[in-house]
Amino acid sequence: MTWDEAFAVGYEEWSAHMIEDVAFYVGLAREAAGPVVELAVGNGRVAIPVALATGQPVIGLDSSPAMLEQARARADTEGVELDLREADMRDLRLDEPAELIYCPFRALLHLATWAERRRTFERVAASLRPGGRFAWNAFAFDHHIAARTDGVRQDERQPHTIRYSVGDNRIDIIRDDGARSSLWWATKNEWLGLLDVAGLELEALYGGFAGEPFTENSTEYVFVARRPLIQ
Ligand SMILES: C[S@@+](CC[C@H](N)C(=O)[O-])C[C@H]1O[C@@H](n2cnc3c(N)ncnc32)[C@H](O)[C@@H]1O
Repeated sequence: MTWDEAFAVGYEEWSAHMIEDVAFYVGLAREAAGPVVELAVGNGRVAIPVALATGQPVIGLDSSPAMLEQARARADTEGVELDLREADMRDLRLDEPAELIYCPFRALLHLATWAERRRTFERVAASLRPGGRFAWNAFAFDHHIAARTDGVRQDERQPHTIRYSVGDNRIDIIRDDGARSSLWWATKNEWLGLLDVAGLELEALYGGFAGEPFTENSTEYVFVARRPLIQ
């Protein structure tokens, strides 16, 4: 199971620590002169500030009705318009090509196989205007962290235990209340290979949201790619 609806309960608390990515995605959206799309929009944590900053509704896709409901309620509270759609990112289809498609908080890692990711990247490439950008972030697998945390109950945020399945490059997050979420990590070359097969070009790979250079010690991939102007 990749995303368990039970994980939507308490998602706000779960994601409350993640704030440093917002300015990064807002910055990209400010530079986009056209439709902006968030894949796996969740509760609108990023899409709402993006819509507020750009003055245009963000198209937000998510496969979870419970998460979309939270996004709707939060957008209402903030008085901002989001164009929320219940859809699977693997089947992304837009009426009008986008200037920016982005996918924060490692949500591409919910796709379990390389084939699913390839399909998603191909759909992204087909849904961008020439010159349009695709941005996402994902953690780099760190065996030090894995050795420290595998099977250890953690109290912070909502109490949970993380289990690593190295053979399947998978992490299962199991909350004490039974909600589960699984992520399949990818290497830098897998991400670059996905760009390659989808016909996208790398614009930048950062090691963090402040635009730090990506180094051998970076633990987060922050990618910005582009659909070429001429193909
Ligand atoms: C970690 S949350 C990220 C939410 C939001 N983007 C954020 O930054 O807070 C992951 C989200 O991915 C969504 N999701 C998982 N698989 C998906 C898929 N195949 N298509 C669309 N959404 C998906 C889940 O429903 C969930 O809302």
